Amino acid sequence: MSRSQALKTHAAVGVPSPQGCVPVARPLMPTLPAIAPYLETLDANRWYTNFGPLVQALESRLTERFSRPTSVVTTTNGTQALTLALQALGAQPGGLCAMPSWTFAATAHAVLAAGLVPWFLDVDPVSGVLDTDHLARRLASSPGPVAAVLPVALFGQPFEYAPWIALQAKTGVPVLVDAAASFDTLKAAPLPTMVSLHATKLVSTGEGGLLASEDAALIHRVRKMTNFGFWGSREAQVSGGNAKLSEYAAAVGLASLDQWPSRRAALASRAQRLRAALVNAPWIQFQPGWGLKWISSTCCVRVVDRDAADLERRLADQGVATRRWWGDGCHAQAAFTSCQADPLPATEALARTTLGLPFFADMTHDEINRVSRAILDLS
Ligand SMILES: Cc1ncc(COP(=O)(O)O)c(C=O)c1O
Repeated sequence: MSRSQALKTHAAVGVPSPQGCVPVARPLMPTLPAIAPYLETLDANRWYTNFGPLVQALESRLTERFSRPTSVVTTTNGTQALTLALQALGAQPGGLCAMPSWTFAATAHAVLAAGLVPWFLDVDPVSGVLDTDHLARRLASSPGPVAAVLPVALFGQPFEYAPWIALQAKTGVPVLVDAAASFDTLKAAPLPTMVSLHATKLVSTGEGGLLASEDAALIHRVRKMTNFGFWGSREAQVSGGNAKLSEYAAAVGLASLDQWPSRRAALASRAQRLRAALVNAPWIQFQPGWGLKWISSTCCVRVVDRDAADLERRLADQGVATRRWWGDGCHAQAAFTSCQADPLPATEALARTTLGLPFFADMTHDEINRVSRAILDLS
């Protein structure tokens, strides 16, 4: 088996990369000493789930991040938060949800689970995200009733809310934001916004997600939906299920939040080193501001005049794992072929030229040098 095949196999089954290879990611969760004080509180409380004190503490600390009054509810994962939010926003089942194909499969799965049909629109070829002017024009001749709009923040990039607030006000169609990887920059949620708390993200509960909104009633509705529709009685007041975070997960999340300032500094310094090491490879384009103004847990670059899949193979043969995190986009995946899709030339171009490089909080100088040397050798 070639090195590139070995790396692919390992990535597919989710186990560490073969010995000697630089992995594309190496998640680092809080270890026992950091979690232990919270677990001791949990043992003393004997309150294990159902909105216990640790979940309340986690949500209240998350709420403090926002510059304006904002409510936060945690969920078992980010995908679930998207589905519940769409339902709580009153998006009529059977309707279309306008969204990019250029996102992770979870976004489209969440839309289907809410009873809506993804309508894949093309993104702007430069910014890589949906453009509100384009969307407004497409909404005027949509292939069916549009129940919701779901823009996605690109690989942790800051999300620009203003045009989306205007679009919602103009069209009356509810907008929900998928900012799964944007924990670092999420300081306001003027539209309901989901952030993932998965182990590969910046702050994590292992599996988990949060929904933030300035609409406290919406967050309360979602909270009820995470709890079988119960609130204050054992009568199901609204449809729902079980999407509550346990106290164990909250303990991990609190420890992860404690470590966030040092984690951020570690990621930013490595991002800056990686950028500097690749300054002589101008065909590698980092996301604007990545590592300088904001940080994410992945390093997604655009490769000018190169093919990302070919690079993935060539770098793997040099022992450097990379990943096309969003593959060819949702529209190209079997689960979504029955969805509505516009022509998607910009999405297809981005899929051909976007590649995730190795990046993690404890990436060593040697690993950064190995990645940059392998890339510069291909220049
Ligand atoms: C863009 C996007 N949306 C949704 C999700 C789903 O989040 P979770 O894994 O917490 O369900 C992810 C996860 O990486 C994502 O990248």
